[in-house]
Amino acid sequence: MEKKPIKPLFWKNGLYVIDQTKLPKKKVILKLNSVYKVYNAIKELKIRGAPLIGCVCAYGVLVSFIENKNKSMEDLKKKIKEDIEFLKSSRPTAYNLFYSLNKMSKIVETFTGKDKNELMRRLLNEAKNIHNEDLYACYRIGKYGSKLIKDGMNILTHCNAGGLATTGFGTALAPIYVAKQEGKKFHVYVDETRPVLQGARLTAWELEKNKIPYTLICDNMAGYLMNKNKIDLVIVGADRIAKNGDTANKIGTYSIAVLANYHKIPFYVAAPFSTFDFNIEDGDKIPIEERNENEVKKINGEYISPKKAKVFNPAFDVTPNFLITGFITERGILKPEKIRYLGG
Ligand code: MRU
Repeated sequence: MEKKPIKPLFWKNGLYVIDQTKLPKKKVILKLNSVYKVYNAIKELKIRGAPLIGCVCAYGVLVSFIENKNKSMEDLKKKIKEDIEFLKSSRPTAYNLFYSLNKMSKIVETFTGKDKNELMRRLLNEAKNIHNEDLYACYRIGKYGSKLIKDGMNILTHCNAGGLATTGFGTALAPIYVAKQEGKKFHVYVDETRPVLQGARLTAWELEKNKIPYTLICDNMAGYLMNKNKIDLVIVGADRIAKNGDTANKIGTYSIAVLANYHKIPFYVAAPFSTFDFNIEDGDKIPIEERNENEVKKINGEYISPKKAKVFNPAFDVTPNFLITGFITERGILKPEKIRYLGG
C-alpha cells in the first residue's frame, strides 16, 4: 500500500482540495471558502469520485456555517439547510453525496441548543466521522480485495477509483496497493476513460507514483485484450449501488462488464457501504448525470469534431447485478444476491 494516502482533501480551519483538472501536469491546492466554490469544484470535476464528493460535502456544511455564523441561530440553521440542498444538486448520481449530506442535515435538525460554537463542534465532529469512516472503508476494501490478486495477473480498471477519488487508498485501487505491499507481482491495464480521461490523467499518475506496473489503453481496446487472454480480473469502483446490486459507475463500465462476462473473466465492484442506496430497488431508478457536450467535442480546449456536432454525454452507466461477480466492501466480498439483506 502507499505509505500515505494522497490527501485530495484536508481541513485546516477551512476546506482545501487538490484541483484534479490540473493533474497530472501540476498539483494545485484550492481553498474552498464559500459554498458556491464547493458546489463549483464538484460540478467542474475539480474534485470527483463518489466517496471524495461525499467527504467534501460534509466539510462543505462547515463552510456554510462559517459563511453564515453572524446570523441568528434560527436563520443560520435555515441557511445551512438551504446550502445542503444546493450541494445535493451539484451531481445527481454519486450516492455518497446524499449519504453525507443527510447525516450533516440530521445534526442541524436535532440541535436545539443556543450555543453556535457547540453546533460548529457537532458539525465538525460528524464531518470527521464521515471522513474517518471513508479512510477505514478503503483500508478494509484493500485487505479483502487483495486476496483476489495472484502473482502474474493482469488486472483491468476503468476511470479513477483510487486515492484521488476517496480520502484513503481508493476503492478499486486499494486491493492493488495492498497486493503490491504484500509483494505480489502483477500488472494493471488502465482504460483512458473518455471523455474526461480520469484513467489516463489520474489512475496512471497514481500507479506511476506507487511504482505499480501499468499499461494505458484506449477504452475500445479492452475487448481485444480479453480475446487474447491478456486480462484475468476486472476491478472497478461505483457511484451508486441499488438494493438489488445493479451498479452505476463511470460510462463504459457496462461495456467492460459485458465483455468480461462473454470472456468468463471475474468482474468485481469495489465500494464502501456509503455508496449503497438501499432506498432504490434497481438500477433503472438511479439518476444518470448528463454533462456538457464540450467534454466530448473538445480535448484540451481544442475542437476534435465539427463545432455543431450533436452530442450525447451521459457520465455513468448501469451494470446489472448478474454481470457482477462480487462486491469488495469493508464488510467483506459479497455476492450481488446478498446485498438486499444488508440494507441500512
Ligand atoms: O465523474 P467522476 O470522475 O466523479 O466518476 C468517478 C467514478 O465513476 C468512480 O469510479 C466512482 O466514483 C468510484 S470512486 C472511488
